[in-house]
Amino acid sequence: MAITLNEKHLAGFITPAEMDQMAPQVALAASQLEQHTGAGSDFHGWLTLPTDYDQEEFARIEAAARKIREDTDILIVIGIGGSYLGARSAIELLRSPYYNALAKDGPAIYFAGCNLSGGYLAEILSLCEGKRVSLNVISKSGTTTEPALAFRVLRRMMEQRYGSEAAGRIYCTTDSARGTLKELADREGYRTFVIPDDVGGRYSVLTAVGLLPIAVAGCDIVAILRGAQKAQQELANPDFNTNACYRYAAIRNILLRQGKGIEIFACYEPRFVQMGEWLKQLYGESEGKNRRGIFPASVAFTTDLHSMGQFIQDGARTLFETVVDIREPAADLYVKEDPENLDGLNFLSGQPMSTINRRAMEGTILAHTQGGVPNIVLEMPRADEEEYGYMVYFFEKACGISGYLLGVNPFDQPGVEAYKKNMFALLGKPGYEPLREELLARLR
Ligand code: PA5
Repeated sequence: MAITLNEKHLAGFITPAEMDQMAPQVALAASQLEQHTGAGSDFHGWLTLPTDYDQEEFARIEAAARKIREDTDILIVIGIGGSYLGARSAIELLRSPYYNALAKDGPAIYFAGCNLSGGYLAEILSLCEGKRVSLNVISKSGTTTEPALAFRVLRRMMEQRYGSEAAGRIYCTTDSARGTLKELADREGYRTFVIPDDVGGRYSVLTAVGLLPIAVAGCDIVAILRGAQKAQQELANPDFNTNACYRYAAIRNILLRQGKGIEIFACYEPRFVQMGEWLKQLYGESEGKNRRGIFPASVAFTTDLHSMGQFIQDGARTLFETVVDIREPAADLYVKEDPENLDGLNFLSGQPMSTINRRAMEGTILAHTQGGVPNIVLEMPRADEEEYGYMVYFFEKACGISGYLLGVNPFDQPGVEAYKKNMFALLGKPGYEPLREELLARLR
């Protein structure tokens, strides 16, 4: 179990001497993280979460998941950003992108509060008709507009349907003491789960934020934590030459200094698509500040070789790729011989699809590197719970180190406020009158 960093396809882009030069810088960044001396150190709680997690809370998560799996047909998970992407991406990776449609012994899981579309929410409401529904509303601040609005609508649906029984079907994951959601939960008697003070949204998937919905989907959350514990132990290894997490952070930084300011996360398994969204938030929100950072993008191959492949092969040379290579597929199919061979594919007869997919990956890596796009390959043995837990910790730690290498605080997100202020002003929220006039004049 582990992530293995394959640096073979960086030859010609990065020299061993450049890597050696990074070693002391990475050691400093890692110590800023591990000794809690770096910016934003009050949000370093995720570093020791796999071993220090609250066992009583964990037991409550497991009990709630069991109850929801027994008494619910549809669980609606309400949240956005770090209170949404972790659970969704884990369920798609570990179960299936078709989880809701496949035969299963637990409820369907839908996500709400992750946009402001009335049409989307109306569809969720209609999906709930005639079904036994539970809600898991997740918001660390307890005040984020998108989930708060969705919760307002869905809470009303629950109260109309279940009356005083509704409270037993509403689960709130929020701050331990502060925020509107916490107040409401206490007043209404909803079950609550805690997002620790020292764990920020995008680093919170291994708390109740991710673990409750993931457990409801039937995944083994004990195994997830076991994998993360292993990563916590292994990736504390101070030897730059053998710590894959340190080396990955160093490589990203060297490539950025070469003008490669866009990182494309790529995977050849469609069940990884939402992990790409999780990675984009983790790296984008952590690094993109003070006019610095690597812009994270994601692609699903081979699908996107037919849309983005041209640009990656031949467009502006500002890119590098990080390929997550899942070595063992969740399932496989063999190509059968066709006597007519009209499609000319009999040369593939007897081959498993996984081999064809692997050859496509190898061919693409060779083509892209030849086209001037460095490829970092992160090998993951398989997409099971333990490997997932390991991978989450690997990417989180590499992100923290990368942020410190860049000289930014990887644990804040001041830029997210700008759109909110404008939106509130344009919607006429009291207190925003002068800004409203200014914005209306600009829109005119
Ligand atoms: O990573 C973050 O901090 C953000 O993406 C938040 O998770 C997101 O804005 C949702 O915030 P909250 O959980 O407070 O509703």
